[in-house]
Amino acid sequence: MAYQNILVTREENIGIVTFNRPKVLNALNHTTMEELSAAVDELAADSGVRCIILTGAGERAFVAGADINELHALASAGAAAEFAAWGQSILFKIENLSKPVIAAINGYALGGGCELSMACDIRIAADSAKLGQPEIDLGILPGYGGTQRLPRLVGEGRAKWLILSGERISAQEALRIGLVDFVVPAAELLNAAKDLARIIANKAPLAVAWAKRSINVGTETDLVTACAYEASQFGLVCSTEDRVEGTSAFLEKRPAHFKGK
Ligand code: CAA
Repeated sequence: MAYQNILVTREENIGIVTFNRPKVLNALNHTTMEELSAAVDELAADSGVRCIILTGAGERAFVAGADINELHALASAGAAAEFAAWGQSILFKIENLSKPVIAAINGYALGGGCELSMACDIRIAADSAKLGQPEIDLGILPGYGGTQRLPRLVGEGRAKWLILSGERISAQEALRIGLVDFVVPAAELLNAAKDLARIIANKAPLAVAWAKRSINVGTETDLVTACAYEASQFGLVCSTEDRVEGTSAFLEKRPAHFKGK
């Protein structure tokens, strides 16, 4: 598929989606969201891709939020609710994808951009990045899951601080509160994301997919139910050829060759 607002590239077994509207700091308009959704489908269906990176074009922004022109034009409560639910459905698609998704946050990750990064599995930020949920300054609240994923990541008090004040925080502060997982020098960001993606991409794909699912499902339920779910996924993964290969390779002191079966 030809894309206008994003770039989709592949390097070895890594798929890279780059938001490419640098003049508006990669703001997410309708077309960009449609293209993101299509790109995720495309990379999900590509058996050669085992890990995905999302990043922004230019040096200034990952994504500076939903496109405020479109927010300004929303004509009714129904249209706005639909706008939010549709965006949320695309972020859920990313969150529930069987392949891991890494956000390489190269600059502003604000509003919908911060929300998008929170739907990814791992967040690596450039030391120059700025994150926040500034919707309150527009007279609105986060609509792409920010009121829910932010407290789950950083705790209720810090989420309320960020959402109610609209304050933008540095990458270092985001690391301190658990909003991002790593901070690296800006010039090294993409390589750091690729290095991590490459490590994950070479693991047993079903083990990776089901470990991700076990964490996602389990963190939304109580510990006893979550552990029962984990046991079921452990049962499933132990029925794979990759389990035989991985354990045999260890015992035979050789590298494992996983097939995703
Ligand atoms: N939507 C549309 N255009 C945007 C944008 C956005 N979210 N963010 C930046 N832009 C545009 C600006 O309008 C400007 O365009 P022009 O050159 O045509 O004027 C261009 O990008 C560059 O931006 P600035 O001139 O503002 O750059 P700056 O360095 O002075 O400020 C900034 C940078 C602090 C990120 C500022 O652009 C800003 O505050 N942007 C808006 C951030 C925001 O509020 N995001 C939340 C959006 S709402 C949302 O996301 C809802 C949701 O939950 C889904």
